[in-house]
Amino acid sequence: MLRKMAVGNWKMHGGAARLAELDRMARAQLPEGVDVVICPPATLLDRARAAAGNSAIAIGAQDCHAEPEGAFTGDISAPMIAETGARYVILGHSERRAGHHETDADVAAKARAARAAGLTAIICLGESEQQRERGDALDVIRAQLAASVPDGATPETLVVAYEPIWAIGTGRTAEPKDITEVHAGLRDALTDRFGASGAAFRLLYGGSVKPGNAAEIFAVADVHGALVGGASLTAGDFLPIIAALADA
Ligand code: PGA
Repeated sequence: MLRKMAVGNWKMHGGAARLAELDRMARAQLPEGVDVVICPPATLLDRARAAAGNSAIAIGAQDCHAEPEGAFTGDISAPMIAETGARYVILGHSERRAGHHETDADVAAKARAARAAGLTAIICLGESEQQRERGDALDVIRAQLAASVPDGATPETLVVAYEPIWAIGTGRTAEPKDITEVHAGLRDALTDRFGASGAAFRLLYGGSVKPGNAAEIFAVADVHGALVGGASLTAGDFLPIIAALADA
């Protein structure tokens, strides 16, 4: 049984006032056995780390550059993220793949940078609606996995999140049978490539996870947690998701 994980991706939401929600989460009785991570906008990393205090909540960033430093206006590097006390970084989110033209090779380079800085990478993969309708979902996802996860990746420093693009922020979620199929495909690919350690990578599901559907999603085989967008913005929504994960 792999350790469970609930990751909140705040995206470009939240000025400092949003930290009150993190404070509420940090003061709640969090269940043992679940790694809880909040990924705020980069401007809040320092203050989020402070708000998390001695609670079990870890902080993550939403992207990093592949280089540790240099003339890259507007970017932040993995060592800079690590310096804030953050321990995770989301990489290859579909919004960055679409909006910033990030390729699988870019994601792999960023994942190598994250590892070098001591951060755990949360690598996002997922098919578009057209790809699913054409029956190509599994092929697309396996190709993304092969090219976005760098050689030498370890289960301690890399987590994979399956996020069907059409389920993100739409209120639609993948069917349990489709999540089962994709996660089984990811697992096969990981064990083919990494041998025994391939069985130890955690696989998260993301895309419109809410308190009302969390239990059903966490009951799916080989789902170890969730990458949560909208429902991670308030303690009122995120805490019940964490509780459902602990109970699964
Ligand atoms: P959502 O976002 O939960 O708002 O659908 C998930 C994500 O993009 O990580």
